[in-house]
Amino acid sequence: MPSLSVFGAQWGDEGKGKIIDLMAGDADIVVRYQGGANAGHTVVVGETQHVLHLIPSGILQGRSINVIANGVAIDPIQLLKEVDELRGQGIAVSPDNLRISSSAHVIFEHHQILDRMSEVWLGEGRIGTTGRGIGPCYADKASRTGLRVSDLMDPERCRTRLRAALAEKNAQIERVYEGKPLALDSQIERYVEVGRKLAPFVCDTGALLRAAYREGRNIVIEGAQGVMLDVDHGTYPYVTSSNTCTLGIPAATGMPPQTVDRAVGIAKAYCTRVGEGPFPSELEGSRGDQLQKIGREFGATTGRPRRCGWFDAVAVRYALELNGADGWILTKLDVLSELDEIEVVVSYRVDGVEVKEYPADRPALEGVEVVTEKRPGWKEDICSARTFGELPQRAVEYVAWLEELVGVGVEMISVGPEREQVLRREG
Ligand code: GDP
Ligand code: IMO
Ligand code: MG
Repeated sequence: MPSLSVFGAQWGDEGKGKIIDLMAGDADIVVRYQGGANAGHTVVVGETQHVLHLIPSGILQGRSINVIANGVAIDPIQLLKEVDELRGQGIAVSPDNLRISSSAHVIFEHHQILDRMSEVWLGEGRIGTTGRGIGPCYADKASRTGLRVSDLMDPERCRTRLRAALAEKNAQIERVYEGKPLALDSQIERYVEVGRKLAPFVCDTGALLRAAYREGRNIVIEGAQGVMLDVDHGTYPYVTSSNTCTLGIPAATGMPPQTVDRAVGIAKAYCTRVGEGPFPSELEGSRGDQLQKIGREFGATTGRPRRCGWFDAVAVRYALELNGADGWILTKLDVLSELDEIEVVVSYRVDGVEVKEYPADRPALEGVEVVTEKRPGWKEDICSARTFGELPQRAVEYVAWLEELVGVGVEMISVGPEREQVLRREG
């Protein structure tokens, strides 16, 4: 199967970076297709912790070509910073192993300002965005007022289009949000210069991906965020602004739908969410704090504490079904090792009626209560297990229980942040 979609099956931060890095050991191409620097994908290699925001997590294995496809909202300044950081850590980054779509939209400073100002304006109704300009950039894409990477490549076109865009955005910053307008000329020169630096990496990535697929290359398609943050299928309006899962791949890469061969979801053994919005299995107080502490649940992009809760089988089953997942990967199982008892959300109660199906017609999940079941914990360190057979019986039973609840088999289990801390199911 040459192409594999790997997507987050919860609210993000499921451990996608770690898993994609592992898969990149056998991949010819790793492609990011949506989101932007709102993502923070952590990969631990030996003593070094890398946090990738825009560059695909395949870059560290040094084997694959890493593609940033047309559906990504690229902050080019952040991207160049990431290239420099990686080089500083001794990782080779060049047009030989990093390609950027000429059709991807560009995030400018004004997008980030508008993102933050809009959150202040929304007050209680804020989304809790990462402030990286994601929403305003995708809004401009849909309004056809955005600039694409190809526009940065042509200084004259960049000047003309950015001047027009900024005139409108400055009016908005000043007159709606009562902020300070951006200096037009310095902004334009800054982005023309950035465009010059990016030029060697830029190409038609859709053509590259279609050719690679035709040639039978192994392609890993790296999701950012998670299904529950998908703009169409998540907990709208508390979502990000892109399609965060397999359903969005063709449009966001230029790969025909039938070239996405397999899909695998990633879910943690419990659940987290950053930012505002419904989170049915959330644990408030000391039990949530305990998971946050053991799991080190702090945002890789913003440093914000992540809200923690039990594994929500209703949400994960929905995420896997929506994506036609062939399997899933369970991460952070080790985090539960200290607990006396482990709970799982097995169904919801909606208007007093117990439902096992995710109520997608109620995206903000108002009035949903959870029904949980408990099992005793295994109370044994599992960080050094390397095969399913080495797991304590109660951990094996926990995994089997989750599989039964979500209806899809687990292919791999992660028991720590490091590369070798992984168990693969035979066959
Ligand atoms: P991503 O956005 O999905 O790539 O996930 P993040 O990198 O934002 O958050 C996952 C965090 O958990 C990172 O700090 C990882 O190093 C860490 N991690 C990944 N897998 C495991 C695991 O199996 N066990 C533990 N304890 N930590 C893990
Ligand atoms: P990775 O790829 C977790 C959340 C934000 C906010 C909402 C909208 O590391 O899993 P945005 O800045 O996208 O407009 O914010 O989405 N969010 C994430 N939460 N992990 C992420 O990425 C996220 N990217 C965005 O916290 O609630
Ligand atoms: Mg993350």
